[in-house]
Amino acid sequence: MSYRQIYHANVLKGWGNDPNGIIEYNGQYHMFYQHYPHAPKWGIMHWGHFVSKDFIKWENCPIALYPDKHYEDTLGCWSGNAFMRNGEFYVMYTGATMETQTQNIAKSSDGIDFEKYQGNPVLTTKLAKELSPVHLRDPKVIEKDGYYYCFLGTLLHDKYGNIVLCRSKDLREWEYVGHLFDKQDNIDSRFFELDGVYECPDYFQIDGKDIIITSPQHLPQDGTSFENVNSCIYMVGKLNFETGHFEIESIHELDEGFDFYAAQALHTSDNRHILMAWKEMWHRDYPTEAEGWIGSYSLPRELTLENNVLRQRPVREIQAYRKNPLTISEFILDNEKKTFEGLQGNCIELQVSFEKEDDFEIRLLKGEHETKILFNRRNNTLSLDRSNSGIPIKGEEENTDIRTYKLPNNSIVNLDIFIDISSIEVFINDGQAVLTANVYPDPSDQGIEFFTSGLTKVLSVVKYDISTEK
Ligand code: FRU
Repeated sequence: MSYRQIYHANVLKGWGNDPNGIIEYNGQYHMFYQHYPHAPKWGIMHWGHFVSKDFIKWENCPIALYPDKHYEDTLGCWSGNAFMRNGEFYVMYTGATMETQTQNIAKSSDGIDFEKYQGNPVLTTKLAKELSPVHLRDPKVIEKDGYYYCFLGTLLHDKYGNIVLCRSKDLREWEYVGHLFDKQDNIDSRFFELDGVYECPDYFQIDGKDIIITSPQHLPQDGTSFENVNSCIYMVGKLNFETGHFEIESIHELDEGFDFYAAQALHTSDNRHILMAWKEMWHRDYPTEAEGWIGSYSLPRELTLENNVLRQRPVREIQAYRKNPLTISEFILDNEKKTFEGLQGNCIELQVSFEKEDDFEIRLLKGEHETKILFNRRNNTLSLDRSNSGIPIKGEEENTDIRTYKLPNNSIVNLDIFIDISSIEVFINDGQAVLTANVYPDPSDQGIEFFTSGLTKVLSVVKYDISTEK
């Protein structure tokens, strides 16, 4: 028995964290990742490498970057990104040692083998006084108005987390533009007094709005938001490329669940913004360690911006892998539990829509264990409860069992749920929010049950098996 997932990218052997350098190249999507090949635990970092034609089936490629230079000889090749320059494939990444973090470039003529630039490091913490002498990492490079701009996470004056902007004409000589965040009255001070780094910054525009995605360490919890020790957020606002200042309009958590970090987006040639994240979290014990691997990646999500809020929908390519549709039409639950013939599975998509009435539970991966989706009428919330999902996962957080999303006020809830052996992603109301978790049930835990102690009208249920076999 294995917890390996079927339609998600999984590390074959060893450890994987952040996705790095997601790029489209010669008709394929490439995703690199933070990788330690020798054991299922974090160690000196390499860049692992997957390719896919459709974001669903991922193939392993040889390791792209080895930590073989003096500027990365103790901690390795940390996160960064990939981009094209005059038809050539480049990556920029952080070389990390115990003493400092520097930025380095490498290039490739085939997208498989990379050669590091002799003049590395090209950008160091000495570039500006306000930069931390140690923490400066996870470059995101974009091209704009004749410059390469680079976003980096740091601790300003070695104290509070911030993101900084640098620019260069040739990727070798860099100048400092400035930092992004300054206190704003409309934004809670926790964002300007972060006791950690804004890791893995990403920047892109949708509909003329500037979006920053980043993963702040140790963002203090706020009710049911930011419940993980490290969070993954996005900010909507306006970036000034002359000063670096980012005027924040709003900040949101990207995923309401447990296992989602270091997300990065790709702008595809067919004009979609596709988001992927590391589908685990720091400082948790994952049972796949016993199988020799830890490292899974979210189902890619298509992003759109609606009323300044990102919608995240499952990448459309997944639809080609749906098999055996099973449709159940409207039914009423009256203080009872209900199951349906054939409605089960651990590699499935399950769509459920229901009217908000009384408390309502959808029990998934049910057998000896169960993973529950709970609608709470009084609080108008939807929760994902993995307290009895299977092998428990403990982390640094006090609450490692349940994550909750405050629903909007409309009367119907639509769920699009993706289960993949040890992974659950619950897309709520056509991508308004997503709850993501890894769970470790028994292979026989495959049942689906609906339950209410009051009344609930379920409007429809559709289940597809997901199969990547021909
Ligand atoms: C984020 C992170 C990055 C760093 C990498 C090291 O998860 O801490 O800031 O580059 O992981 O593996």
